[in-house]
Amino acid sequence: MVEVVRERWGGRPYFIFAALGSAIGLGNLWRFPYLTYEYGGGAFLIPWIIGLIVLGIPWMIVEFGMGRYFQSSAPGVFGGIGKKWEWLGWWPVWCAFGITTYYTVVMAWTLRYIGAAATTAWGVGEAGATGAAPFFWEQVLHISSGPEVLGAPVGALVGCLAIVWAVIFLVTFKGIKVIGPVSKYVMITAWTFLVILVIRGLTLPGAAQGLNFYLAPDFSGLGNMEVWFAAFSQIAFTLSLGMAGMYAYGSFIAKKGDISNNAFITSFGNCATSFFAGFAVFSIVGFIMQSLSIPVGEVAAKSVGLAFITWPVAISMMPGANSFFGIIFFLCLFLLGLSSAYFLAYGGVISPLMDKFGISRIKATTIVCVIAFLIGIIFTTEGGIYWGPDILDRAVSFYGLLLTGALACIVIGWGFPASKLRKYVNETSDFKIGAWFDWLIKIVVPAALLFVVIYGGFVQDIATPYGGYPLWVASMIWVILAVTLGLSFWLQKVKTRAPKEVSRK
Ligand code: PFF
Repeated sequence: MVEVVRERWGGRPYFIFAALGSAIGLGNLWRFPYLTYEYGGGAFLIPWIIGLIVLGIPWMIVEFGMGRYFQSSAPGVFGGIGKKWEWLGWWPVWCAFGITTYYTVVMAWTLRYIGAAATTAWGVGEAGATGAAPFFWEQVLHISSGPEVLGAPVGALVGCLAIVWAVIFLVTFKGIKVIGPVSKYVMITAWTFLVILVIRGLTLPGAAQGLNFYLAPDFSGLGNMEVWFAAFSQIAFTLSLGMAGMYAYGSFIAKKGDISNNAFITSFGNCATSFFAGFAVFSIVGFIMQSLSIPVGEVAAKSVGLAFITWPVAISMMPGANSFFGIIFFLCLFLLGLSSAYFLAYGGVISPLMDKFGISRIKATTIVCVIAFLIGIIFTTEGGIYWGPDILDRAVSFYGLLLTGALACIVIGWGFPASKLRKYVNETSDFKIGAWFDWLIKIVVPAALLFVVIYGGFVQDIATPYGGYPLWVASMIWVILAVTLGLSFWLQKVKTRAPKEVSRK
């Protein structure tokens, strides 16, 4: 008999490194600290941990478990539950594809900054503190006055983006037998850099002030719903859920492999890394506060500014080895981003294409890398930052991820259903999950995600256009969601072809 054999991780450690690599990304060193900063420091950790336990871990068990059960990436999982649900597997694939197009541009900035750090091009000493912002906005991004003015692509960024995609191609075109070992080295190197950065941060004058802000919880903030919305959506983002890729990574787990413990290790390992990275970030926030005698609110640490302005400011004022710490920081950021980006490209897009169309891995990889690179060029333009890391990000990594996640949990929880998945997972897992899991998946997770989508998203974005952009620009969020949903229904109608490139027994 001819049996199709799916590719397999070379061992459990490889899977864990790859899954950790997928989850630990720019979000840990950049998004988590700035959200914590924005939402009043320590108080943010409470909804974040609740989100991790109540939403994140059960949802990750669903994605790993369903991928392994159906031995397929997301579309095959939902097509397996019922042909009429296949679109629900494609929608996150489109979101994953969208995310890769601009996330890799942010990685291109990090490459550009590795070069800049070699000479601390934004200046040294207090002059560096004032030079870091214009350096980022004007010299690196050449930023235009608004999203209406796209301008030309910035040559250096296009070059860096090409390197990013070339690296992703090299890691993915041979599949998980390369992804596994590469993830191990990438993660160990990135963690080593992170430890260096934390030690450097903690030994800087003023570090304690910053840490005080990080760790002292201001419980009054918890009454603010915004804090909960931000924490829950960050949990989904940081664990790389709702992006299709974890189904595929789960599908490569051996038939007798563990699910639930792997999900615990991945989730806690990821969140521990975020928490640890927070020490590096907040110690340098304290250092800047002390060096420039400014209060915490005046340390520009919002959004992309935290990585590309605040850190350069701190690096420029360090007492020595400035370039060394600059390079370590941006290299660390690059490596963290890399393992997330190739995860999303491979698990989120390439695997689904191979599973659906039966095309070879090299063909699928080439198509995805080339098209995503070409689209990414739009986000290297002078107005690109408004469209990629902002508008498209809001569409796919907020709405797309949370909506598809909520719908997936409903369809799996009630249709598959959750009890069957739980029994299946318990057959091979190190520790057994109880019936509580069923109710989390059927009700709590989708309700919480929909709550965030509706009150933290729709209600706000309909009342006032997102980001204060002109209406037509903000409306692109709805256009992107509608088009990707339409394309998902279309793909559901296309006939599935058996994979060609498989080993046979
Ligand atoms: N968990 C990732 C992070 O926190 O950066 C999210 C992610 C983003 C994964 C982009 C993959 C990706 F390409």
